[in-house]
Amino acid sequence: MVMTLAVPRETHPGERRVAATPQSIAELIKLGYTVNVEAGAGALASFSDEAYTLAGAQIVADAATLWATADVVTKVRPPSIDEARQLKPGATLISFVWPAQNATLLDVLATRSASVLAMDCVPRISRAQKLDALSSMANMAGYRAVIEAAQHFGRVFTGQITAAGKMPPAKVLVIGAGVAGLAAIGAARGLGAIVRAFDTRPDVAQQVESMGAEFLGIDIDEEGGGTGGYAKQMSAKFIEAEMALFEAQAREVDIIITTALIPGKTAPLLINAQTVACMRAGSVIVDMAAEQGGNCELTQPGEVVSVNGVTVIGYTDLPSRMANQSSQLYATNVRHLLTDITPGKNGELQLDMDDVVQRGTTVMQSGTLCWPSPVVAPSPAPTPMSPTAKGVASATPDAADAHAARRHGVWSLVALMATALLLLALGAVAPGAFVAHFTVFVLAVFVGYQVVWNVTPALHTPLMSVTNAISGIIVIGALLHPGGTGTIVSVLSGIALVVATINIAGGFLVTQRMLKMFQRT
Ligand code: NAI
Repeated sequence: MVMTLAVPRETHPGERRVAATPQSIAELIKLGYTVNVEAGAGALASFSDEAYTLAGAQIVADAATLWATADVVTKVRPPSIDEARQLKPGATLISFVWPAQNATLLDVLATRSASVLAMDCVPRISRAQKLDALSSMANMAGYRAVIEAAQHFGRVFTGQITAAGKMPPAKVLVIGAGVAGLAAIGAARGLGAIVRAFDTRPDVAQQVESMGAEFLGIDIDEEGGGTGGYAKQMSAKFIEAEMALFEAQAREVDIIITTALIPGKTAPLLINAQTVACMRAGSVIVDMAAEQGGNCELTQPGEVVSVNGVTVIGYTDLPSRMANQSSQLYATNVRHLLTDITPGKNGELQLDMDDVVQRGTTVMQSGTLCWPSPVVAPSPAPTPMSPTAKGVASATPDAADAHAARRHGVWSLVALMATALLLLALGAVAPGAFVAHFTVFVLAVFVGYQVVWNVTPALHTPLMSVTNAISGIIVIGALLHPGGTGTIVSVLSGIALVVATINIAGGFLVTQRMLKMFQRT
C-alpha cells in the first residue's frame, strides 16, 4: 500500500525551517510516497507552495486534515501535544524528538500507537553520517554564530590599511572545537579574523590548526576525550585553569564564541562576569550552549544582552536563522533516512530493527517505547567488549564491527589453508613453472585483499594512488608480452592491459571529481 507522507508547517514560535524542500520531495516521490505539504510550510525558508506543487506534492490547506491523513509525518521540531494528538493511529513520525526532555509528548504518541524516529538519536557512526542532522544543524549554527557576532561588532573582521587609517583585524576566540566550533573557526577565518581556539580534547588541535587558527593550551595534563572520542567532564582544577586562560584572552580578543558541551550534561560555566568585565566595550560573546545552561554566566537564553558595552548573544535558534540552507540540509538527512527505510522503493516504510542505525533512531515502535536504545552506543570509536556484557555489547556497532573482523579473520585463515592444499595438489600434476607463477598470483591476490580490507575509509584516496601505481606496472608487464609467447599469454596480456588502463583512467576521473568538490567556484 502506497503511504501518504505529510510535511506540516512548523508551529514553534520563530521556527522558519521546513522538513522537506521541493528537491527532497521529488526524491521522496521516486521512493513511491504520495506527498502532502501544508500550505505555506516552506514560506519562511523561501520555498513556495508552487515549487512544492511543481515537484509533485499536493498542497493541503487544513493542518488537521494533513495530520489525520498522513501515514508518515516529517517535521523539524518535536510536535506540540496538540499536533501529536492529531496523528493518525499507527502513523510514523520523523523529527527532532529529544526523548529525554519530552516524556509527556512520548506518552501522547504512545496513545496514538505511533512509531517515532528521532533525528537527534541517529547514532553518530560513519555509516550514519548522511542522516546526522545534529551535525548538519551544528555546522549551520557555527557559521551563523560568526555572522551574528559580526552583526553586533562595530568593526571589520579583516585588517586593512587605508588612506583614512589602519584597521586592525578582529581577534576571535572559539571555545570548544566540535562541529559547531570548527564551522565558527572556518567562517571567522573566511572573514579575515585572527582566530584562536581551545578544546579539552587535544586531538582536535590538528583540525583547528589546519583551518588556520591557533590552538591554545593549558599546563595541565588531563585528557578531555571520554568514551569513543566524545568530551568528558573535566576536573575542577582543569576548569579553573582554562577559566584563567579565558580571562587572560578576554583582555586581547574582540569576540568569544562558546560551544563547550558534554553530551547529556549541563554546559560547563567557563566565562564568568569577571571575565566579561575584562573585555573591551564593543566586544561580543556568542554563547551557543545557551539552551543547555550556557557557557557564560551572563547569557540569557534566546536574548541579546549588553553588559558594560559587551554584547552577549544567547540565541537558541541559530540554524533557523539560516532557514533555507538549514532546511535543505535537514531535508536531505530525512530523505536519506527514508531511503534506508523504504527498501522496496514502493512507498512502504519498513523498519529493520536489526540495523543498528535504524534501531538507534527509533524511540518508539507502534506505541511501544524503545528508548534509550539498548543496542547503539553513542560512540564512533571502538570500545572494548566486556565478556560479561557480551549479549548486549555484540549488538553495538563497534562490537558488531569487531565481531565481523574476527569472522573475517577466521574465513581468511580457512581460505588460505584451502588454497595451500589446492597448490599442493596442483604441484603434483602441473608443470613446475606454472605452479611457481600460479603461487605468486594466488599470494598476490590474498595479500592485496588483506591490505584493502584493513585500510580505513579515510585512507582510500592514497590507496587508490597505490593501486594506480600497481596498474602502471601491470601495463608495462602486459606491453612486454604480446606477440612473443603464444596466443593464451597474448590474450591474457591484452585483457590485463585493458583492465589496468580502465583502473588508471577511472582513478584519475574519480580524483578529478573529488578535487572539483573542494574547489571554490
Ligand atoms: P560537540 O559535542 O561536537 O562539541 C562540543 C565541544 O566542546 C567538544 O569538542 C568538546 O570537547 C568541547 N568541550 C567540552 N567541554 C569543554 C570545556 N570545558 N572547555 C572547552 N571545550 C570543551 O557539539 P556541537 O555539535 O559542535 O555543538 C556545540 C554547541 O552548540 C552545543 O552546545 C549545541 O547544543 C549548540 N548548538 C546551538 C545551536 C543554537 O542555535 N544556539 C544550534 C546547534 C547547536
